[in-house]
Amino acid sequence: MSEATLLEVRELQTEFVTEEGIIPAVNGISLHVSKGETLALVGESGCGKSITSLSILGLIAEPGRVTGGKVLLEGRNLLHLSRKEMRRVRGQEISMIFQEPMTSLNPVFTIGNQIGESVRRHLRLNRKQARAKSVEMLELVGIAHADKVVDYFPHQLSGGMRQRVMIAIALSCSPKLLIADEPTTALDVTIQAQILELIARLSKTLDTGVILITHDLGVVAEMADRVAVMYAGEIVEEASVEALFEQPLHPYTQGLLKSLPSIEGLQDELYSIPGTVPNLLDKPPGCLFAPRCPYADGLCATVRPLLEERRDQHRVRCHHACKEERL
Ligand SMILES: Nc1ncnc2c1ncn2[C@@H]1O[C@H](COP(=O)(O)OP(=O)(O)O)[C@@H](O)[C@H]1O
Ligand SMILES: [Mg+2]
Repeated sequence: MSEATLLEVRELQTEFVTEEGIIPAVNGISLHVSKGETLALVGESGCGKSITSLSILGLIAEPGRVTGGKVLLEGRNLLHLSRKEMRRVRGQEISMIFQEPMTSLNPVFTIGNQIGESVRRHLRLNRKQARAKSVEMLELVGIAHADKVVDYFPHQLSGGMRQRVMIAIALSCSPKLLIADEPTTALDVTIQAQILELIARLSKTLDTGVILITHDLGVVAEMADRVAVMYAGEIVEEASVEALFEQPLHPYTQGLLKSLPSIEGLQDELYSIPGTVPNLLDKPPGCLFAPRCPYADGLCATVRPLLEERRDQHRVRCHHACKEERL
């Protein structure tokens, strides 16, 4: 790990205890994020992206539990911290943005109150300073007339503006790491692009590490430095954005890329990967993707592939990843 490594997750395990059995939602995830770097976590719905981020944030609730691994923030294992210490980490060192800003903003307080509350707590500012800082943060996230908007209530803002406010709150205490879980899914396409651009720009100027969670590889291309592709609670491929898009090695990643709408938008129907994600209570014995994979053979059906570095900084979990360049 280089010196600039901010977050390192090693062999993280999170499971849910249900009446039907134990669901291994996150099964041995390892990843790392450097300062100023954006790591995208992608995969279909249900593959464990949110549970991974909630595990990092110490927010897994019953019937879930983190059962193994390490979450190292600048070398300190967050899994060993008390609830109180973890709350401080969440306020000051790691921030998060979720999909639906309306549920995270409090409808009865003005925008300025809500940003102000966060900055006053963390930066020990008085009321007047907090208001000035709130206006400054609103300007930073590209909100026009920030000195007016600061007195608005959440319902007076559009969805895109609310998400900007959430980003302003998330960044107001200068976190080292920002976790954005599908931050633009609820927004329309042009606003989506603006919000993503904003996160990317702020990450570079403030040197914030970002974990960007999305089910959409399209948003990754512009935004991320590296990508980890998840499938059924595991990472199946990890590479730089360039390598992943130019030469995806895992058939699942290839399928995800194939299902992106083309730029021309003219061609045939959108491809979708056949089949569904495996039932985590009853996993197939070999490769978890084998039942949906066009290249699966007897080896895949019986032996679980490991995540291996097949090219420089390019890891993949597939028995056949390098045998043929089938792209
Ligand atoms: N409260 C819960 N109870 C039982 N299982 C859960 C719960 N929350 C999540 N899971 C399991 O964890 C898996 C991963 O969920 P999640 O991380 O939310 O997926 P996503 O990649 O869509 O963010 C789900 O498919 C489900 O099997
Ligand atoms: Mg999710």
